[in-house]
Amino acid sequence: MKLSLDRRGLTEVRTDALIVGRHAGESKLAPGLAALDKQLGGLLTKVMTAEKFEGKPGQVAHVHTDGRLPATRVLVAGLGSEKGDAEAVRRAASAASRRARDLGAKSAAGYLAAEGVSPRVRAQATVEGSMLGTYRFDKYLKEKSPKSLDALAVVEPERRSQGAAEDGMRAGGIWAAATCLARDLVNEPANVVTPAYLAKRAQEIARSGHLGLKVLEREDCEKLGMGAYVGVAQGSLEPPKFIHLTYRPKQRARKRVVVIGKGITFDSGGLDLKPADGMYRMKDDMSGAAAVLGLFSALPKLALPVEVHGLIAATENMPSGTAQRPGDIVRAMNGLTIEIGNTDAEGRLTLADALAYADREIKPDEMVDLATLTGAIVVALGLGLSGVFVTNEALAGRVLTAAETAGEKMWRMPLHDEYKDGIKSDIADLNNISSQRGGGAIVAGLFMRDFTGGRPWAHLDIAGTAFTEREIPLGPKGATGVGVRTLLAYLHALAGRR
Ligand code: BES
Ligand code: MN
Ligand code: ZN
Repeated sequence: MKLSLDRRGLTEVRTDALIVGRHAGESKLAPGLAALDKQLGGLLTKVMTAEKFEGKPGQVAHVHTDGRLPATRVLVAGLGSEKGDAEAVRRAASAASRRARDLGAKSAAGYLAAEGVSPRVRAQATVEGSMLGTYRFDKYLKEKSPKSLDALAVVEPERRSQGAAEDGMRAGGIWAAATCLARDLVNEPANVVTPAYLAKRAQEIARSGHLGLKVLEREDCEKLGMGAYVGVAQGSLEPPKFIHLTYRPKQRARKRVVVIGKGITFDSGGLDLKPADGMYRMKDDMSGAAAVLGLFSALPKLALPVEVHGLIAATENMPSGTAQRPGDIVRAMNGLTIEIGNTDAEGRLTLADALAYADREIKPDEMVDLATLTGAIVVALGLGLSGVFVTNEALAGRVLTAAETAGEKMWRMPLHDEYKDGIKSDIADLNNISSQRGGGAIVAGLFMRDFTGGRPWAHLDIAGTAFTEREIPLGPKGATGVGVRTLLAYLHALAGRR
């Protein structure tokens, strides 16, 4: 999508679809809308009344201007009640952009002035909403829709706000493109997205962004003592790839952080095979990895003064004659031994070694992982919230604030120490599943905590939020790209920007 800033007033903007926001419960039209309505001889008010447009989030009313304005159509998008926020702008931009596209518009221009939202944030949210809302994954369809929105302008007539709007527009474009990259990776099937494919994509991202990249092969991982990760990989014909991306700022780094993404490119469950229903969607078990790659595609364009390392312990989880057996014992990189209580609890095994590697080889100030880790988090929080487990209060605040900024819904979960009893093994230091009932997402978090070396660590369980079977406000069915924008907001805040 081509992005630009339009500095003209609303009645002068030339576009296929002029999108203007409106709050619910406003009796009078805001000055901009009033001017448009006047040019249209009151048609806008008529249509809004006839269609019972109330300004609710997601609501859109539209009219053809029939030559009475330079814009071909005017779309009024609901911003919800009174005080708006960035998410209201995103959702309005998304809904109206979809409508514009479906009406055949190639270009749109957005003026979504929500109460209390700065021009910079408004511009960024407009671009994010429009790009994410009109995202499609149609590469495997013979018949692709000819309807696509190719250009978006952010309208900012106010002179003194235009610099900020331009910055916001640019950031929105980068953040949304990174999210769409993650979506694409997750939507691709597992016969395409193998560990080697993830490594290849990491290489492309590293090359074009001048990033550091190390890809460790199976033997390298064995030498480092990553028995937990290598054990998961041993049942698959696809060789594992341990991916380590590095972004180093030109200026002095304020902090060094590690971001880890679960990268199971297909989770069959292993010998503890999943039933068909549960296995079907398991191409999405690399959504954390996709978020990390999305993030690193954006970092070179943002030049934040933070050193960021991205880790993906990529592998399939497959049953075979060489597969790990229930009851096997493996030794992780930090020396802890693990009894394999269930081969389907593989994510925590791969993440254990990624965390231990981060602790020993990178020595970061803090670490964040994203993982489609447990069905239990879906039981706890449903499909609308990611679970956040954090060992450090300052980091917890940073992650939850970042999620709020990004508009990604997350909820703090407890690392309840007493549940550690459940993952004791009689013959190894740990068991990868609990002998006690319930609290599965917490248990997984407690298991992984033993590999963090006591460093501040946040774990995001995105099993419920990485993929959606229903259309959502900011996207179609399929991969959501969750986590990318939260990570970006978190790093921006660490860098003292925003
Ligand atoms: N990848 C799954 C978790 C998952 C479930 C992601 C549903 C997305 C949707 C994970 O590897 C897994 O299989 N977890 C098991 C753990 C259990 C064996 C302790 C689970 O949640 O059932
Ligand atoms: Mn599993
Ligand atoms: Zn899994």
